[in-house]
Amino acid sequence: MNIKKIKSLLELNPESQTCIIQGWVRTFRANRFIALNDGSTIENLQCVVDFEKIEETILKQITTGAALRLKGNIVESQGSGQKVELQVEELILVGACDPETYPIQPKKHSLEFLREKAHLRVRTATFSAIMRVRSALSFAVHQFFQNEGFVYVNTPIITGSDAEGAGEMFRVSTLDPKNPKLNENGDPDFKEDFFGKETNLTVSGQLEAESYALGLGEVYTFGPTFRAENSNTTRHLAEFWMIEPEMAFYDLNDNMDLAEKFITSVLKHVLETCEKDLEFLDERFNKEESSKPQQLRSELGLLEKIKFVVDNNFKRISYTEAIEILRNSKPNKKKKFQYPINEWGVDLQSEHERFLVEKHFKCPVILFDYPAKIKAFYMRQNDDGKTVRAMDILFPGIGEIVGGSQREERLDVLEKRIQEMNIDAEELWWYLDLRRFGSVPHSGFGLGFERLVQFTTGMGNIRDVIPFPRTPQNAAF
Ligand code: 4AD
Ligand code: MG
Repeated sequence: MNIKKIKSLLELNPESQTCIIQGWVRTFRANRFIALNDGSTIENLQCVVDFEKIEETILKQITTGAALRLKGNIVESQGSGQKVELQVEELILVGACDPETYPIQPKKHSLEFLREKAHLRVRTATFSAIMRVRSALSFAVHQFFQNEGFVYVNTPIITGSDAEGAGEMFRVSTLDPKNPKLNENGDPDFKEDFFGKETNLTVSGQLEAESYALGLGEVYTFGPTFRAENSNTTRHLAEFWMIEPEMAFYDLNDNMDLAEKFITSVLKHVLETCEKDLEFLDERFNKEESSKPQQLRSELGLLEKIKFVVDNNFKRISYTEAIEILRNSKPNKKKKFQYPINEWGVDLQSEHERFLVEKHFKCPVILFDYPAKIKAFYMRQNDDGKTVRAMDILFPGIGEIVGGSQREERLDVLEKRIQEMNIDAEELWWYLDLRRFGSVPHSGFGLGFERLVQFTTGMGNIRDVIPFPRTPQNAAF
């Protein structure tokens, strides 16, 4: 049968045709007009019923949230507000929806309220738009790398290594938590555990991706990543998706060029394919911004922000230059920063990153050549003996969206650094092998997918751009 998506019907020139549509009632007014949504587009289709032809018991059940299957004629709309409408000939109530207890009513709900109804929130215009944009971004990620000749690799989710050395990992174990076998030291004996060693959920697929880049040339991962950091912020999830390209023979400049081209390309794709959803989110963003105090308001609208990033080069400056700018900045002199910048070597907080991006440069910024002390063991050391070839990309309203580096490809230098940082070199035997057998300069980065979705949809809280967010004290659904 001719089952149609509402999106495709709305794109038609209005010429009469019979079809079937299926979806959920958004509103029903005057016992005559059903606004039906099937998730294919932000727009509802107006469906006109002749209430005299519908059984009383069925008519009563056409309420917000009910699922319907409608057969009828698509015709030019009589009323204003839409090009076409469906004149309903047959109506089947597929699933009723109790109007007394259904939480998603046709009115404005707070995002906090909807987070508690995460299983139903995708039936709102806002969340369906976010999820379609998220899907389009995913597609664009694969399309970009596939077009560039990169190979998609799947790195393990359960791992024995701590790539970032930050130690913020979720343990994976089948040991009896009440009564684990203990070793001589009285600690749980992981030799008795499922894998015969301590294992965790991965914090990054980078180390494994490096191994594959040094054979396939250019690879990327796109998968779930887990961090047990107790960060209750609007930018952190305990489970998030990361895209990690890794490229043999790339230096840090090649890496920055690729990252910039990649981000621009995926944003262009959504501008082209998600017009209606972005228009809706743009309007929403502008409304939210206008309710904020003047000094906290975004200078640009959502669409303007995305276009600005697409049309302008990112500003590239070294960490050392950034520290100089921050040290001499007004908020630093007036002691407005929670963490004042006094000396070279400190880690930048998100207040500093946002100052650079939003106030000083007013465009995305790539910071490079960070102090070795605040970065991971695998980054390539510069000749100054102080800095490493790291780069972070900072975005307006988001802060850090990408973290990456050129990797240390020299075995002796890497071994020394591992030792200095008290990292277990034995665990990394295979990683060191990569520096023994055909080692080459190589680079890569990680982009937090939800932070990209946040930027693109203008959502203030990262919990609203992933279907079922995982955060401290919250693993509902
Ligand atoms: O800067 P990070 O920790 O870098 C790495 O993991 C490297 N191994 C990547 C690489 O070079 N292949 O994380 C990369 C990005 C961050 O810039 C941020 O966008 C995102 O991952 N991210 C998070 N997103 C949501 N919730 C969290 N808790 C995140 N932690 C990092
Ligand atoms: Mg980082």
